[in-house]
Amino acid sequence: MNSGPLLRPVVLGLETSCDETSAAVLDGGNRILGHVILSQDVHEVFGGVVPELAARAHLQKVDSVVSSALGQAGLSLTDVDVVGVTAGPGLIGALLVGVCWAKALAFALSRPLVPVHHMEAHLFAPSLEDPEAEPPFVALLVSGGHTLLLHADAWGSYRLLGETRDDAAGEAFDKVAKLLDLPYPGGPQVERLAREGDPQRHHLPRPMLRGGQRAGDADFYDFSFSGLKTAAVDLVRVLELEGRLEGERAHVATAFQEAAVDVLASKVMRAVEETGCRRVLLGGGVSANGRLKEALAHRLGSDGRLFHASARLSLDNGAMVARAARFRFDRGEVAALDVAPSAGLSFPGLSRWVA
Ligand code: KG4
Ligand code: ZN
Repeated sequence: MNSGPLLRPVVLGLETSCDETSAAVLDGGNRILGHVILSQDVHEVFGGVVPELAARAHLQKVDSVVSSALGQAGLSLTDVDVVGVTAGPGLIGALLVGVCWAKALAFALSRPLVPVHHMEAHLFAPSLEDPEAEPPFVALLVSGGHTLLLHADAWGSYRLLGETRDDAAGEAFDKVAKLLDLPYPGGPQVERLAREGDPQRHHLPRPMLRGGQRAGDADFYDFSFSGLKTAAVDLVRVLELEGRLEGERAHVATAFQEAAVDVLASKVMRAVEETGCRRVLLGGGVSANGRLKEALAHRLGSDGRLFHASARLSLDNGAMVARAARFRFDRGEVAALDVAPSAGLSFPGLSRWVA
């Protein structure tokens, strides 16, 4: 991966907030020189992430993941100028592994330590592949733990338009996957199964999406996915009682995905109309969903721009952490070595939208 002159600073990005152990080496031109993403498979038998197992698996693998990323870059630890690490939000035990590891490295090498907010890192992911993926944009961040709709007028300056009131979009995908006996993580499995379904066969509700809502209404931009999940549970129960669930699984997956995508895309389009900004950025694991990207591209039309990362960089990864760390480092945001991770870290530079 390392060709051409090495530009400084070299940033190491470390991600351990959930169930991916990942490290990336980014050079001063934001080129990814080395990048390793290790997905933990210990959780599969449990049908979801087990926090204690996630922390232990990070601890076992973090050394070798960083070594491999540096190896790909043809660099060694002493070549690292800046140490970036996800400090939250996420699973606290998992975060602690990454943060302690990064602190130790920063201390040993006397290098600056830059804590990164995981969701801000997702915002930066598309810019690693497309230099035009820069603010201003309307952003939809959809992951296993968050669903955020915001407007960015510059990096570091964000206005929160809406968020989920209950489950995150990815969480809803995962729960419906479980309901349909699909393995964890469920999002990609639901998407695969949904391709075989007929979108006209079943209709599921679109929570918080009604005609007549206006900007300023509390639910204009907000999301709710728990009701949609319950509606899917009820549908599956009826089909099961009628003894025809097996033949209907793909149709249920399609109905769920269509409802979720419709709500997400509709709220994004509200933000586009209200802000007048036709540049939209998708981030987070659910942004790997092809149907979501297709629906948004269609609704935006030819005078809009849709930015999203490749599937690899949409999911949790160290490269986006390194990129966000670079941004914060350039602003002088270096942490003291007593910095602690936080499971509920607040989004930096995010202010609430007031109608
Ligand atoms: O950002 P991410 O990798 O981790 C968190 O920060 O949570 O997002 C993971 C979430 C999971 O809920 C997963 O099921 C979902 O993203 N996901 C998808 C797809 N790929 C991953 N959801 C729908 N369609 C997909 N193709
Ligand atoms: Zn994530």
